[in-house]
Amino acid sequence: GSGGGGVPRRGVQAALSPAHIGPAPDPEDWWSYKDNLQGNFVPGPPFWGLVNAAWSLCAVGKRQSPVDVELKRVLYDPFLPPLRLSTGGEKLRGTLYNTGRHVSFLPAPRPVVNVSGGPLLYSHRLSELRLLFGARDGAGSEHQINHQGFSAEVQLIHFNQELYGNLSAASRGPNGLAILSLFVNVSPGKIGREQVAGCLELGLGEVLGEEGIGVLDFWIPTSSPCTATQVAGSSNPFLSRLLNRDTITRISYKNDAYFLQDLSLELLFPESFGFITYQGSLSTPPCSETVTWILIDRALNITSLQMHSLRLLSQNPPSQIFQSLSGNGRPLQPLAHRALRGNRDPRHPERRCRGPNYRLHGMLGSPPPPPPPPPPHVLV
Ligand SMILES: *[C@@H]1O[C@H](CO)[C@@H](O)[C@H](O)[C@H]1NC(C)=O
Ligand SMILES: *[C@@H]1O[C@H](CO)[C@@H](O)[C@H](O)[C@H]1NC(C)=O
Ligand SMILES: *[C@@H]1O[C@H](CO)[C@@H](O)[C@H](O)[C@H]1NC(C)=O
Repeated sequence: GSGGGGVPRRGVQAALSPAHIGPAPDPEDWWSYKDNLQGNFVPGPPFWGLVNAAWSLCAVGKRQSPVDVELKRVLYDPFLPPLRLSTGGEKLRGTLYNTGRHVSFLPAPRPVVNVSGGPLLYSHRLSELRLLFGARDGAGSEHQINHQGFSAEVQLIHFNQELYGNLSAASRGPNGLAILSLFVNVSPGKIGREQVAGCLELGLGEVLGEEGIGVLDFWIPTSSPCTATQVAGSSNPFLSRLLNRDTITRISYKNDAYFLQDLSLELLFPESFGFITYQGSLSTPPCSETVTWILIDRALNITSLQMHSLRLLSQNPPSQIFQSLSGNGRPLQPLAHRALRGNRDPRHPERRCRGPNYRLHGMLGSPPPPPPPPPPHVLV
């Protein structure tokens, strides 16, 4: 397949293997974000490096991720070229998956999605899109900016396709992986969270969402006190495709999967943005220190309803008790002496990457080209 069973897929394979059901845990899959799962000890982050020799970097590595980014430590690097994302003009398709740890989107082998430029010396191929989120708003991202977390973090995991044949080989070699992170805020709309939850719990009814932004295709009862305008904040059009009610409820439980197509990856990116980059590690075992992280400096938005539906996903199969997937991030790791580089000139903070794709140019020398018309905020 695309990337052929590397690190992010390990959870998938192990979850599908009989070893996981039996009493002896699969050592490759024996980790979690919380030490205690249903009364059984499963090693949480402080123990990852201690329970498996192949994961020792999780304990002793000095280039670990995630980190807190203090903006005053970010060095402006005028030699950072723009990021380039390429799908060859094709729409993306693939499988949305509840791995029991993350919401994961595994793209089909075709089309290949490439990222290059920025700090990357090689072309990297997209292998997985992963979503991490918290139990409450303002927490849930792995990385932080100036000690502030975000409600969610989208990680686009790529491997170096020029040097390695697949993700697992790349995760063991130098310059192996590139992960693009996008932060996500909850845009609450005009009414409170409790009321939004009430809207959903009342049951199914009239569909709303003809607000011209295509973000609110949840079912809301006709008798509901909520209206689309009240509950809709703005929402990222790409994430809306994954998080609309019809889609997200197909992956309520561990190992649930749902095929999606006609996705436009470029809609995931803000109109314009800068990025911050540093050298780090996988934030899951084996914590390999082969990752160039690229953090996009402009946060995306999703609605309260979409966030609520994420928190309703279970880490477990339907036969076991409900445990929310939320809180699926590793704690912060020391940055130590590592450099944080950014492509935004503090003297010209308005001069940012124009995104997405081929629009990401014009950062150096000449002023950026005039912004193209915004992408249509509709579901394709
Ligand atoms: C990944 O690549 C390595 C080395 O090229 C190879 O040995 C391994 O079998 C590949 N793994 C998968 C799952 O294809
Ligand atoms: C992606 O990169 C590979 C290797 O550099 C290249 O062969 C392929 O044409 C690229 N695809 C797109 C869509 O840019
Ligand atoms: C997110 O919402 C805020 C207002 O709540 C807005 O200022 C910002 O531009 C939005 N971000 C994006 C990427 O649309």
